[in-house]
Amino acid sequence: MCGIVGYLGRKAAQPILIEALKRLEYRGYDSAGIATLSDGVIKIKKEQGKISKLEEILDAPSNDEKLGIAHTRWATHGKPNQLNAHPHSDWTGKIAVVHNGIIENHATLKTWLSSKAVDFVSETDTEVIANLIGYFYSEVNSGKDHTQAPPDQNKFEWSVQRALAELHGTYGLAILCADFPKMLIGAKKGSPLILGVGEGEYILASDAAAIVEHTQKAIYLSNNEMVTITPDGFNTKTIDNVAVSKELHQIEFSLEQIEIGGFAHYMLKEIFEQPEALKTCMGGRIDRQNNRIKLGGLASYLRELTRTKHLILTACGTAFHASLVGEFLFEHLARIPTETEYASEFRYRNPIIEDQTVVISISQSGETADTLAAAEYAKERGATVLGIVNVVGSSIARTTDAGIYLHAGPEIGVASTKAFTAQLAVLTMLAIELGRRKNISDTEAGRLIEELSAIPEKISRILKQSEHIKEIASANIKKNNWLFLGRGFNYPVALEGALKLKEISYIHAEGLPAAEMKHGPIALISNGTPAVFIATLGPQYDKILGNISEVRARGGKIIVVATEGDESIKQYADHLITIPEAPEMLQPMLTVLPLQILAYHAAVLRGKDVDKPRNLAKSVTVE
Ligand code: M6R
Repeated sequence: MCGIVGYLGRKAAQPILIEALKRLEYRGYDSAGIATLSDGVIKIKKEQGKISKLEEILDAPSNDEKLGIAHTRWATHGKPNQLNAHPHSDWTGKIAVVHNGIIENHATLKTWLSSKAVDFVSETDTEVIANLIGYFYSEVNSGKDHTQAPPDQNKFEWSVQRALAELHGTYGLAILCADFPKMLIGAKKGSPLILGVGEGEYILASDAAAIVEHTQKAIYLSNNEMVTITPDGFNTKTIDNVAVSKELHQIEFSLEQIEIGGFAHYMLKEIFEQPEALKTCMGGRIDRQNNRIKLGGLASYLRELTRTKHLILTACGTAFHASLVGEFLFEHLARIPTETEYASEFRYRNPIIEDQTVVISISQSGETADTLAAAEYAKERGATVLGIVNVVGSSIARTTDAGIYLHAGPEIGVASTKAFTAQLAVLTMLAIELGRRKNISDTEAGRLIEELSAIPEKISRILKQSEHIKEIASANIKKNNWLFLGRGFNYPVALEGALKLKEISYIHAEGLPAAEMKHGPIALISNGTPAVFIATLGPQYDKILGNISEVRARGGKIIVVATEGDESIKQYADHLITIPEAPEMLQPMLTVLPLQILAYHAAVLRGKDVDKPRNLAKSVTVE
C-alpha cells in the first residue's frame, strides 16, 4: 500500500518521478504528490485522486531539479484529501518525507512535538515523522541538543536517525532536506524499499516496477536499515549507525513485462498470460522422463515435510483460497494433516505450534503485512517456515527459511489472477512430490505430472470463450446479488469467484460449498438470482446436480461451469461454460478461469476501473 519513490541523478527529476509513480499506482491511488529540491528550496505539489490529477497541476519540468521524492497514497490515517497527501514537510519547510507504513505511536509523538511549539497541518502519522526529523535537525543546528551529531556524520542523516529511534510501527521512507541539495535518504522497517543503482542515477522505490525502466541493478534494504545517496555513491547502515554492506541484485523482470501491451487492462493481460505463466512456473521443475518434481528451493526441507504431522498454510485473500486447495491436496495425496489459516487471525488465537510443525506462507507480493507477521510469529515459536511467493526478494521471501518462487511474472492488476493459478501449480507440484515420497505410487505420480503438464494448453482453450462469457455477464449485469457454488476441490474456487466479482465490479457475491445452501443461504434465491455452479465431472458430480436443482426450483438463474462433452448438464443450465476434462484435484487451475473472465467483463460492463478498484490496493502492507 502506498507507493514511494525518490530520484537523484543527472536528469530532471519530475518526469522520472511521475513515470515511476504511474508504475506504482496499483499500490494506492487516493492521492499523489511530488517534492523536488533545487537552490535550497523544496517545492511540493500534491493532489487528491489519481496521478493524472497531480499531473494537471505540475509546472513544466526543470533541469535544475535533479533530486526529488514522490508518493501515491492508500489512505490509513486521515481522509484521502489534498492536505493529507504526501509528501509532508516539517513545520520549518526544511524537511520533506514520503512514507509507506503506519507509525503506531504517532499520537504520543504529536502531543510531545506540539508541546515544543511544533505545528501540524494534516491528520497523518507521516507528518509526525517530518516534524520529528525537523525538530532534531533544528535542535542540532542551534546547538541545543545534548547528543550532538558525531563529527564525521552530517546533521541531516543524524537527525533522521534520532527521529527513527523514536518511531514504533512500520515505514519505508524517502527523505529530503533543503540544506542538502545533493542528498536523498531512505529508511526501511516493515515496508519494502529497494534502491535501483543506475549509471550516475539512483531510484529509491517501494518496488522494482518503478526501477526497471532505468536499471536492473538493485539493492534490497532490510528492516532497520537506511541508505544515504549522493551523486558520488551511496552508503548503507543500520538506523543506529552501524555500516552494512549490501549485495547488488539483478531485478528479474523486464520493462516489457510490466507494460500493458495491447490489452485494455492489466487484469485482462494477466488472465491471458496464464498459460505462459504456468509454463514458466512449472518449467524446470517437472521432470516428465523420470516422473519427478524438482523443487530446488525446498530440497533440504522435503524430508522434514514428509515427516511433519502438522502443516499449516497461512495467507490472505486469493492466496488464502489457493491455500485451501493446497490443504485438500496435501491431505489427499500426502496424507499430511493440514490446516489453512487466515494470516490475519493466526497469531491472535494462540495456535498450536509443536516441534515438527511446518508453516507455509503463501503470498503473491511477499509484502502482505498479516502474512508476514504470521510467518514471523511461527518462526519465533520454533516452526519451520516456508514460503510460496511471487515477488523475488520480497519481505516474506526473505523471512522464511526456504521457499518456492512462483515465477509467474509481475502481477499489476489489483485483482489477483495469474498468481492464483501459479500458487495452485506450486502447491500441486509440492503435494505430488510429497505424495510420491509417502503415499502414492510412482505410476500415480507420473499420471498426475502428465496431467499437470497439460494444464497450460487447456487454459488456452478456456480463454477462447472470453466473448461467450462476456455475453453471460451482460445478460445478468443488472443483478446485484450473485452466488458462487462448488464442492470438493472446487469449493475454494467458488470463494475465489465471488471475491473476484466483489472486488472489481462491487456486485455483492457469496461463495459457498454448494451443499451448505440448504442450511440458510438458499433463502437468498429469488427469481433470476445468478447462481454460478462449478459442476465439472468428478466424484461429487451427482451431488451438485441435486444442489443445482434445488436452486433452479426456486427461480435461480443457473450459470454452470461444466466439463466439455457433458451433454446431460445442459438441461440444468441457463448459461453454460465448459472446461477441458482434468482430474478433480487439478480442476481449480481450470475452473477459476471462467470466473476471472466473468468478473472482468462484469466490471467493465458496469464501467468500473478494473485495475484500480475503489478502496483497494495491490499489496496490503498494513494490518
Ligand atoms: O500479495 P498477497 O498474495 O499476499 O495478497 C493477498 C491478498 O491481499 C490478495 O490476494 C487480494 O485478496 C487480491 N486483491 C485478490 O484479488
